[in-house]
Amino acid sequence: MHSNKNILITGAAGFIGSHVLRLMVLKYPNSNFVNLDLLTYAGNLENIKDVESAANYTFIKGDICDAVLVKSIFEEHQIDGVIHLAAESHVDRSIEDPLAFIQTNVLGTVNLLNAAKQAWQNNYEGKLFYHVSTDEVYGSLGKTGLFTETTSYDPRSPYSSSKASSDHFVRAYGNTYGLPFVISNCSNNYGPNQFPEKLIPLFINNIVEEKALPVYGDGQYTRDWLYVIDHAIAIDAIFHNGSEGETYNIGGLNEWTNIDLIHLLCELMDEKLGREKGSSSRLISYVKDRPGHDKRYAIDASKLCDELKWQPTVDFKEGLSKTIDWYLDNSEWLEHLTSGAYKEYYQKQYG
Ligand code: NAD
Ligand code: TYD
Repeated sequence: MHSNKNILITGAAGFIGSHVLRLMVLKYPNSNFVNLDLLTYAGNLENIKDVESAANYTFIKGDICDAVLVKSIFEEHQIDGVIHLAAESHVDRSIEDPLAFIQTNVLGTVNLLNAAKQAWQNNYEGKLFYHVSTDEVYGSLGKTGLFTETTSYDPRSPYSSSKASSDHFVRAYGNTYGLPFVISNCSNNYGPNQFPEKLIPLFINNIVEEKALPVYGDGQYTRDWLYVIDHAIAIDAIFHNGSEGETYNIGGLNEWTNIDLIHLLCELMDEKLGREKGSSSRLISYVKDRPGHDKRYAIDASKLCDELKWQPTVDFKEGLSKTIDWYLDNSEWLEHLTSGAYKEYYQKQYG
């Protein structure tokens, strides 16, 4: 059991980080949480507005690649635990600009590792560096089989390659310098606060605006979807009770082809918007495939379920319904995002 006092969470203004931060700040009033986030296009302080004035929370706007800043945070806040989520996280953007992914995901992670090593090397006792990663490092599955913790790495996009590289560096710091670490690799998340460049929020937004739903290729790609709060609960369990030096796979036991998921989303949206049945699915438009598109991801999470007694708690249809409700009730959040830079990205990606 780790009971760290002063925890640095990186990227907690982003989608998953915001849910992790909220859970931790409220559940552990005797620990202090420092959020280091650069507030890139994907970071948004509105995501964590409800906890911003908590006594055990501090926000620092800055770059995980800034060695001087990161070193000073470790010193000033006596950091004894790290939960590292900050990253460039979107595959399509990585295809356009791989270097940005190497910069943040690889160099940024190594910079954090250096700071942790330097601050902790005289006494690693009770310290922990938790690196949050993705199932995409394992590559692409055929029709059968699941990714386990021992599946060989086979990243196939610039995004997954940068995450795989960062995972390797974390293990290398454990092996070479004795840095205490834990890694988790999770499947696709969905839920409130996800930036609308990812499939589910993009399509919710487009249905509201009656815009085309751009399905890549034949739509027969499979993903294993997990409600974001279940991911946050798993991260809490692994950070506090996971075994040092171990890897845990996290997944929803919930595989959907994109096209089946999109039809379910369309049905739910028709009901919620009071539109005629079938009107949202008429927006489906098959477009050019993503280059190097991974066919199928699916996770075997039995290690996490058996060792740490974790289980997904939110059924997919219920989670999707809650997610849609959140986006419909928070149109202002979306409007703030869909101005400016996002419009430019959308135009470039979808024409
Ligand atoms: P996100 O893109 O929504 O948020 C990333 C956050 O990191 C943002 O707040 C951004 O401002 C911040 N950030 C980016 N570059 C930074 C830098 N240089 N310095 C400091 N902060 C920086 O991402 P997400 O979907 O919440 O993913 C979080 C983590 O979880 C990532 O490491 C990602 O690889 C991993 N992950 C995501 C999923 C998923 O489905 N979204 C699944 C598995 C793992
Ligand atoms: P995404 O949300 O980008 O997650 P990832 O690529 O990390 O799995 O995409 C989920 C799936 O949806 C993936 O197979 C690509 C597909 N997709 C589309 O068909 N159209 C889109 O506009 C987007 C963004 C994704």
